[in-house]
Amino acid sequence: MVFSFVAKMLTTATILYSALSACTAPNPRQVRNGHGTLSAPSSGSIVSQGSSFPFEFQDSNWCEDGYSAITVWLTNYAPTTSSLNSTGQFPEGEYSWYYGEYLIPNFGLPVLSGSTPPPSSLVLPESLNLSPGDEAYLAVVETGTNCPPGLNIPPQYELTDLVMTVG
Ligand SMILES: *[C@@H]1O[C@H](CO)[C@@H](O)[C@H](O)[C@H]1NC(C)=O
Repeated sequence: MVFSFVAKMLTTATILYSALSACTAPNPRQVRNGHGTLSAPSSGSIVSQGSSFPFEFQDSNWCEDGYSAITVWLTNYAPTTSSLNSTGQFPEGEYSWYYGEYLIPNFGLPVLSGSTPPPSSLVLPESLNLSPGDEAYLAVVETGTNCPPGLNIPPQYELTDLVMTVG
């Protein structure tokens, strides 16, 4: 009798505790559903391996940062924000190509010394195991920092993507 009462109390406490943790646990990925705009290449472009395609990305800059860091990737599946790990990257084995990290100057600021602004074209690498007709997803992860300001919020990530067809 006493035992079952204690067991019940413990169960209740456990349930309360899990409910509480679920409410207060931050989203480990700190992702956002907004996104920037990929105005080039156009969605559905046919690109052959080893060829370049135009690249033009307008950041959403929801944090109104002076500079926005982006990383650019290729995946062989339609990426979503849940594909990203806690540092806003595609985990090893979950992407086909990593182009690199670029820094976009906002508000007409000059390119920050030591940083690389986004290139105006990218190449679909030859080394990927692709066949004509395959889909290649171009994914841009934009990082927003320190917003709202002063609250010590960790970096937040937004994903923009489009699909290309291997020619
Ligand atoms: C996220 O993935 C990248 C590989 O793309 C890896 O280098 C990094 O350590 C991962 N971060 C975490 C926290 O797992």
